[in-house]
Amino acid sequence: MARTIVSIVGGRPAEGTPAGTLSSPNPSRLADIVAEVTLADAATFGGACATAKRAQPSWADIPAPVRGRTVAAMGRIVEANKQPLARLVTRELGKPYQEALGEVQEIIDTCDFFLGEGRRLYGQTVPSEMTDKQLFTFRVPVGTAAVVTAGNFPVAVPSWYLVPALVTGNTVVWKPAEYAAASAMALFDLFQAAGLPDGVLNIVFADGPETFAGLERGLQAGTIDKIGFTGSTAVGARIGGLAGRYLQTPCLELGGKNPMVVTPSADIELAVQGALFSGFGTAGQRCTSLGTVIVHESVHDEFLARLSAAVSAAPVGDPAQDVLYGPMLDQKFADRFEEYLGWIQPHHKVLGSSGLGRISGANPRAGFVGDPEAGLFYHPTIVDALQASDSLFRQETFGPIVGVARYADLNDAIALANAPGYGLSSSIYSNDPHEVFRFRRGVTAGMVSVNNSTSGAEAHLPFGGNDKSGNGSRQSGIWVLDQFTRWQAMNWDYSGHLQKAQMDVAELAADLDYRLKDVAP
Ligand code: UN1
Repeated sequence: MARTIVSIVGGRPAEGTPAGTLSSPNPSRLADIVAEVTLADAATFGGACATAKRAQPSWADIPAPVRGRTVAAMGRIVEANKQPLARLVTRELGKPYQEALGEVQEIIDTCDFFLGEGRRLYGQTVPSEMTDKQLFTFRVPVGTAAVVTAGNFPVAVPSWYLVPALVTGNTVVWKPAEYAAASAMALFDLFQAAGLPDGVLNIVFADGPETFAGLERGLQAGTIDKIGFTGSTAVGARIGGLAGRYLQTPCLELGGKNPMVVTPSADIELAVQGALFSGFGTAGQRCTSLGTVIVHESVHDEFLARLSAAVSAAPVGDPAQDVLYGPMLDQKFADRFEEYLGWIQPHHKVLGSSGLGRISGANPRAGFVGDPEAGLFYHPTIVDALQASDSLFRQETFGPIVGVARYADLNDAIALANAPGYGLSSSIYSNDPHEVFRFRRGVTAGMVSVNNSTSGAEAHLPFGGNDKSGNGSRQSGIWVLDQFTRWQAMNWDYSGHLQKAQMDVAELAADLDYRLKDVAP
């Protein structure tokens, strides 16, 4: 039986007018409804922000090391529930179980990193230019964060926001993707079990328009101090515009068209394995998924033949079994993927499967694992001979599709890598340090992998993008602290008299005309 899920605000089921209900189905077995979700309206969202804002000062008053212990408990509780949470992610989002376990591990890693931040949260002592005066810096929580997340990483990516926000003394209203509601609710329950006071972490299920209106209410009322958003470039731009009107800089993690350059010096088999994992893992629905492989013309044919063979042979299907990938996350991603397939043109060459589009009895995939008709399964697709003007080259294509283009000169490869105007992840396969460092300097992406694929970021390196992939904000590790804290500068003059900066500063006389004489014959 499907579980009914409602928003939790201030520790209680949310009051307010429900804005309809929605089913969250298992995308590999659509008849299996994982959850019935009661959607909240903008007023409920706004109310949640007010609740979180009221809870914030006393949460910030709890000593940071004590908040760090709570984060430690969150990590341990998630670890103790690793398998059931991963099974739920597999059931609700269709992510293969091994990948789902990796996703849950990423939450544990994030908690492991930030539990220590409770005991660091360092500020600085800074010398003053005057005597009997001392300067300091302190990290101050921003206040209340509204966090809106996607469902492709339904629990790991939210933890990248929630954990650092909470340990630094902020309160949070979290709006997960509706189609990932059960997984989100499970993470919320696990985090709550660590003893967070009511109102510190709130969860609101709402659709896009109600969420946007709710954000506007919160900003207007002064109950949102930071927005975190992971999702599409188009929605990110709207949220950025809204936040900007209230003089706020949101933390935006948006789409990608992540390039992989394969040079003549590359280990071709390694590059093929990387393309397989990052192009088709999670059915190509990661922000870090491979977009286009840009292959040197001297190794293009060999690379393409090997990639095509590997993709054709890869098991696709039931995510509870040992497969490369399972279904699309949700019907709306399947619909959009069908549109992207419509961008294939006569000058392209399509490889990688026994068919194109949705896998079914009439359009079978050789070696499919399970019943293709039960869920939203799509053929893996490689499109060769991409040109820089093709939509398939320029646009993000969330789904199991990888483009291939060729290059002659590394400068052209770098220009092609940057051409779509995204800037999240990138990769180069090369055994020549000159090529590697030229690529690193030239590529505009926030993340560069060498002899590794575009996916697989570790939880303690800065994660984020530029241009259409984000506004330069970074998550993870020490770098995300700048999203959830602001620097407060303090100066303390204990001289007992007014000392004016820049004016009452001692100066030692220097002879700037001094030159060395007669030191060398
Ligand atoms: C995302 O797709 O939003 O690097 C995050 C990776 C994962 C995180 C992806 N560790 O693929």
